[in-house]
Amino acid sequence: MTDGSRADGDGLTRLWGGRFGQGPSQVMDRINVSVAFDRRLADQDIAQSRAHVRMLADQCIVDRSDADAILDGLDRISQEIATGQFAFKAEHEDVHMNVEARLHELIGAPAGRLHTARSRNDQVATDFRLWVRDALDRLDEGLQALQSALLAQADRHAATIMPGFTHLQSAQPVTFGHHLMAYVEMLARDRSRVADARRRLNECPLGAAALAGTAFPIDRRATASSLGFDRPMANSLDAVSDRDFALEYLSVAAICAVHLSRLGEEIVLWTSDQFRFVRLSDAFTTGSSIMPQKRNPDAAELVRAKSGRVIGHLTGLLTVIKGLPMTYSKDMQEDKEPVFDADDTLSVSVAAMTGMVADMNADPDTMKAAATAGFPTATDLADWLVRVLGMPFRDAHRVTGLLVRDAERRGCGLADLDLSAMQAVEPRITADVHSVLGVDSSVHSRKSEGGTAPDRVRQAIAAAREAYL
Ligand code: ARG
Repeated sequence: MTDGSRADGDGLTRLWGGRFGQGPSQVMDRINVSVAFDRRLADQDIAQSRAHVRMLADQCIVDRSDADAILDGLDRISQEIATGQFAFKAEHEDVHMNVEARLHELIGAPAGRLHTARSRNDQVATDFRLWVRDALDRLDEGLQALQSALLAQADRHAATIMPGFTHLQSAQPVTFGHHLMAYVEMLARDRSRVADARRRLNECPLGAAALAGTAFPIDRRATASSLGFDRPMANSLDAVSDRDFALEYLSVAAICAVHLSRLGEEIVLWTSDQFRFVRLSDAFTTGSSIMPQKRNPDAAELVRAKSGRVIGHLTGLLTVIKGLPMTYSKDMQEDKEPVFDADDTLSVSVAAMTGMVADMNADPDTMKAAATAGFPTATDLADWLVRVLGMPFRDAHRVTGLLVRDAERRGCGLADLDLSAMQAVEPRITADVHSVLGVDSSVHSRKSEGGTAPDRVRQAIAAAREAYL
């Protein structure tokens, strides 16, 4: 049979088949059927149907005995899904009609009452919101675990000195603990975006029906609250056509994935032979099939790369929704795969990052040696000239530049310049200057709020544990 042919005879067996004489063509099924992916909404769909039918019975829209039969049937379907026995069928198009069709098989006529005062439009919007809400909650937990792993390493390395970079050039010495705490803060913002998105998402579309509401005396507050929503959505048209919650999920996920990609990139750098700041555990390293000496940071590279997929999904869904007229259009069926894939991608990235961070071994000696190269205390020297000699900072900057040039010519560090060489540039310099030229004193002196001094870092760790764990 070619794709253009029609599968005759099943028009009437479809739940919407009443007005059709023939079934859809195979190619129509191929483009239309969504059960292969939207079956992931099955638990949410059943929870929603339970809430809906209870409300229908409470409002005397459906007989109690029919409602009980429906609830029993839904319990059995739930069991079948949990044990992998449920047969999802493409002929029923999507998860909603698969569940309803099975309900008909199990309980017969009363099943036909479940869809009273409901449309697949408010149904899918409700299911998907429930699913994304769970995804946000899982993401928050995952990010908290990653923060906890980062905090443990930060605690271990609150006083471990490493080069701080700007432009990936050595800038000023910092502590490794301080550096890791930067990521703890980034993830805290990600988590606050999660909480924010969840708050806005948590309104219930159910009861909007197809688009205009319903003439049945439903109680939207009851269904909203039994599904854990804060309230029903205010406008029925908006309720069935809004996909902001999916877009917000993808935005939150994309920003978070970008944060992880930055840490992934740093781990790639730190584990390279040129840096050797960090060694990953065997559990998070792979070998090369040809070069026996290799320990490749594949997980870090993949976390870095996978951010691309999540960003792509955000762009993709924005493009799908852009320009859609009110209210529901089938275009919206394209909202699920990007969100599902973003969730799969991000959860494995967060888990891999947590594993890598928890197991990684930093090498303080190598880090400190690297921190000493490249005149990292030049700013400390300039500050000394300002503080002790009362020079304006701009003059101090120029004098320090001359001293750096001198040290560079001699092939030594600033701390190795002797006093007479320094005084040749600025006669008022005294021996006291050497007290600020070491990387330890530099790091310890940066005590300003949010600075890298080990005591500040320990304070920041304590505050973060209190606030985030
Ligand atoms: N599978 C559909 C979706 O995900 C369900 C809603 C279908 N509604 C409709 N009017 N055809 O969007």
